[in-house]
Amino acid sequence: ENTLGAAAAQSGRYFGTAIASGKLGDSTYTGIASREFNMVTAENEMKIDATEPQRGQFNFSNADRVYNWAVQNGKKVRGHTLAWYSQQPGWMQSLSGSSLRQAMIDHINGVMAHYKGKIAQWDVVNEAFADGNSGGRRDSNLQRTGNDWIEVAFRTARAADSSAKLCYNDYNIENWNWAKTQGVYNMVRDFKSRGVPIDCVGFQSHFNSGSPYDSNFRTTLQNFAALGVDVAITELDIQGASASTYANVVNDCLAVSRCLGITVWGVRDSDSWRSDQSPLLFDNNGNKKSAYSSVLNAL
Ligand code: XIL
Repeated sequence: ENTLGAAAAQSGRYFGTAIASGKLGDSTYTGIASREFNMVTAENEMKIDATEPQRGQFNFSNADRVYNWAVQNGKKVRGHTLAWYSQQPGWMQSLSGSSLRQAMIDHINGVMAHYKGKIAQWDVVNEAFADGNSGGRRDSNLQRTGNDWIEVAFRTARAADSSAKLCYNDYNIENWNWAKTQGVYNMVRDFKSRGVPIDCVGFQSHFNSGSPYDSNFRTTLQNFAALGVDVAITELDIQGASASTYANVVNDCLAVSRCLGITVWGVRDSDSWRSDQSPLLFDNNGNKKSAYSSVLNAL
């Protein structure tokens, strides 16, 4: 096969990218994206501030631009993200307690109703665990509504759209030795034991000098899958885009039958949220980098 998506499909997986609505008029960008990828995540357009800028007033114009581009070009869509401490609209940032809890529930219901039956995987909760050695939750306004906020989000999501796989998504949970990884693992184990509806765990996989790729990533994916959830690599980028590290990540996913697929966090280096790190598969001119061939060969 000669595209990333077609190569991934040989093993029943997908290869996706983040898409920004503001770049859909750039034909170099859309040319690469439509050719190479078969899964799309909206980079920002389905986040809370974008979809519910005023309480109870939903706006899906940019989210739908990304969604419609994806579907018209034959791609599936990962929904990102319903409950998160970051990129909250001002009205939500100023809420707390039971009114914030209700606003979270209403937000999940409003967004999932709009896309009911149309989303392959939803990142229901994003980045709820703390960095460092605690293995515990990150402090946030949502966390202060009570420790059960995550399971409430998942139960709400399942009731809103039973057709989407429901994922917990985070970064710095790729290394099995990290306390944050263990914290999320213990939450997923607890959810599975109590019947809280969770289908998948997304590993963002933003690898850089501070949190480098480690070969125990495969162990992490295997251990989570053994809990009875699917796993996915959801926002992959690698500082410097080492071809061998990209191949290692692909091989780790391929080694785990429950690894659904891989999404890179942007098309060209110049599209990256970390463009100074040149972390993606295409250079600023849209040319394939060595990491591209490495990924294609590994798939
Ligand atoms: C980033 C986007 O790429 C940027 O454009 C935006 O300014 C900030 O968010 N983890 C996530 C993503 O789950 O939503 C983030 O995306 C990157 C880190």
